[in-house]
Amino acid sequence: MKKIVCLGSLNLDHVYRVDHFVRPGETLSSAGYSVGCGGKGLNQAVALGRAGAPVMHAGKIGRDGGMLRDTLEKAGVDVSLVAEGETPTGHAVIQVDAKGENAILLFGGANREITEVEIDSALDAAEGGILLLQNEINSIDLVFRRAHDRGIPVAFNFAPFDPEDAARLPLELLSYLIVNEIEGAGVAGVENPEAILATLKSNYPRCRVILTLGKAGSAFLGDDGTMVIIPPFPAEVVDTTSAGDTFIGYLFAGLLEGMALKEAMELATRASAITVSRPGAAESIPFRSELA
Ligand code: RIB
Repeated sequence: MKKIVCLGSLNLDHVYRVDHFVRPGETLSSAGYSVGCGGKGLNQAVALGRAGAPVMHAGKIGRDGGMLRDTLEKAGVDVSLVAEGETPTGHAVIQVDAKGENAILLFGGANREITEVEIDSALDAAEGGILLLQNEINSIDLVFRRAHDRGIPVAFNFAPFDPEDAARLPLELLSYLIVNEIEGAGVAGVENPEAILATLKSNYPRCRVILTLGKAGSAFLGDDGTMVIIPPFPAEVVDTTSAGDTFIGYLFAGLLEGMALKEAMELATRASAITVSRPGAAESIPFRSELA
């Protein structure tokens, strides 16, 4: 089986349970507080590992990030390219409201200090496999170009979305682009799911685009150019944090196993339904055995 290298963020998540997201000028008491493991990169690598895929994580933590490396390792992820530096580990301040929705504030920290040498090591490791990226580390454009020059397929989850990055990044070099409706609309410049998929197909014909639609499921463009929708799996929502990351990890685990895209998306949908029913980021991601 091909392997996948996830070059991405590792965050300490500071999670606050609130009735509603704090408003400008408001001081709000939280009903609960915990620190957990997160970062879109780490979450996606954990999902791949718990799904049983051969996965390596590359990224950077500070001296305070040992629990992130441990969590990856326990999920079966190869952590030999998780570097440690002097800058503090990245972190996120996450509010989770009564409906299970979240609002996230990021501090990049060590995630923004990945060196060219570390990038090249991740590319060396990804030779013959797939490189998976999110938009929480530095030098994404350089990674796209170097991976493309070496013939390494790149899958990019454009999250968090940034309009300046959208204008600057060479998205035409991608093999896979995974976006939610807001991110997709930002990249495509159109609003509804069908138009987003059609526009991205026409702009990036060699790239497979996967659109996640939250409560409405997910979608892709079939070979005949019509939109295929994967319906959501019913779930009691406790906390939506890392649902998208779980989806992406399981999606690529399925693809590496040789599943067709629709089948892999169905697997990913089942996994993310479990994630939303539990609190936390990495800790809420299911093991493959839980999907049966
Ligand atoms: O996608 C969820 C993740 O976004 C959190 O774990 C947080 O760290 C941010 O990166």
